[in-house]
Amino acid sequence: MGKKMKILVTYMSLTGNTKKIAEAIYETISEEKEIKPLAEIEDLDDYNFVFIGFPIHQSGQPDKAKKFIESKTKGRKIALFITHASPPGAPFLEPLLAKCKASADDSDLVGFFNCQGVLAQQVADMLLKMDDPKFQEFGKMRHVTVGHPDASEVENARIFAKEIMNKILNS
Ligand SMILES: Cc1cc2nc3c(=O)[nH]c(=O)nc-3n(C[C@H](O)[C@H](O)[C@H](O)COP(=O)(O)O)c2cc1C
Repeated sequence: MGKKMKILVTYMSLTGNTKKIAEAIYETISEEKEIKPLAEIEDLDDYNFVFIGFPIHQSGQPDKAKKFIESKTKGRKIALFITHASPPGAPFLEPLLAKCKASADDSDLVGFFNCQGVLAQQVADMLLKMDDPKFQEFGKMRHVTVGHPDASEVENARIFAKEIMNKILNS
């Protein structure tokens, strides 16, 4: 209690979904705070705690996010937040999220949030033109992703951030 804290919210976002979640998290933080794209962060020395967000790309964690987490967050308290087009409960989603979590094995992972994000029309169009039927199938599911993250997912992100802040301020 009464500790001086500086919190960073950093994210990768190609089509705005992860940014939307990043902003919701950022808004709930009452301590000194910054919000910045991942590409602008050299090191984390100025911060007591870092929220790191990224989208799922091609059934995995974007390389830049993986490298950032593996090289810069060793021993640090962090939380991850992820958006993905796959609907919650999709069988292939859990192993994918587990892989993302594993990139933070050397960090002190305090929390993990994920939610659905709309598959952008341009991305769906691109996938539909690919030869691999797996990608075509993925492109066809855009309709189940439209509108995400929705108001309740954004609210869940706020609740997540509040819980994390309570945890770290009381530890
Ligand atoms: C190149 C590319 C590949 C993607 N591959 C997947 C995928 O394998 N699984 C998935 O659930 N979503 C996939 N998506 C969808 C994004 O994860 C989802 O739309 C996410 O919310 C995008 O976040 P952003 O708007 O912050 O970039 C992919 C998107 C792009 C652009």
